Amino acid sequence: MPIILENISFFYSRNTPLETAALQNVNLRIEKGEFVGILGEKGAGKSTLIKLFNGLLCPDSGKVTVDGLAPSSKEVKSRIGMVFQQAADQLFCRTVYEEIAFGPLNFGYSRKETEERVFEALEAVSFDRTMLSRDPFSLSGGEMQRVALAGALALRPDYLVLDEPITGLDPSGKKEILDTLKKMKDQGTAVITVTHNLKGFFPLLERIVLLREGRISFEGSREEYLETENVLLPPIASMIRELRSRGMPVNPAIFTVEEALKEILRVKSMIEKENSEK
Ligand SMILES: Nc1ncnc2c1ncn2[C@@H]1O[C@H](COP(=O)(O)OP(=O)(O)O)[C@@H](O)[C@H]1O
Ligand SMILES: [Mg+2]
Repeated sequence: MPIILENISFFYSRNTPLETAALQNVNLRIEKGEFVGILGEKGAGKSTLIKLFNGLLCPDSGKVTVDGLAPSSKEVKSRIGMVFQQAADQLFCRTVYEEIAFGPLNFGYSRKETEERVFEALEAVSFDRTMLSRDPFSLSGGEMQRVALAGALALRPDYLVLDEPITGLDPSGKKEILDTLKKMKDQGTAVITVTHNLKGFFPLLERIVLLREGRISFEGSREEYLETENVLLPPIASMIRELRSRGMPVNPAIFTVEEALKEILRVKSMIEKENSEK
């Protein structure tokens, strides 16, 4: 069963002089097991959109359901793991253990069941158990982000929802998070992420939703996204587009540096062969 948004509109400061239409007439369906990227400029409505999924915000009109249930239900809150933009703001316990255990305990799991989930989540983010006694606020930004992610994973969510999870992290911190997300997706968890970082995420995204001024301006596969004009492209796709505009017959559906290298070498040898046959 999916997350379904039907004709959603959401306003901040409704009926005041400061009224802002953050989302308008948004229709979206996200299936279990998908890896979806939510893109758009600052202020486009991305963070607002994902807060509708688990009832943190309620739409002013339209309807949201998660597996057929209301987002405000406790059941839904346990099926959706959320990692917010500033992971440090999400942390509030004295130890990493307490931090990761908070969700399961709050949902009424026993100490023993909770401990199992903490160990499992810790492993998923590639931390060892010495981490558990650490003070979350003594950690680096990347480590805090992984603790926040582990806290969400301890719920064993069907949907993992993240807001800019690798923004501001160093390369190794980014890689750890991306590797974990890929692993979760391979295990069947839907991963829905807001991101500006196309370079890091593009190889993983199966579907892209682009928001512009509170409306969905594009929705489709990576391949379709690459064919769309006036969208932010990852560096590798910009390069491929540039090569094509110069008449090089490279395949446009290229998502990683490795694929680009292979494709350029293929086209190069093809051109050399044609020239030698002339
Ligand atoms: N708490 C708030 N109060 C008033 N306006 C807000 C609030 N949060 C966001 N907005 C406005 O709603 C719009 C969408 O914001 P947001 O969902 O945060 O966008 P994004 O995450 O894409 O940057 C923007 O115009 C923003 O200024
Ligand atoms: Mg945001």
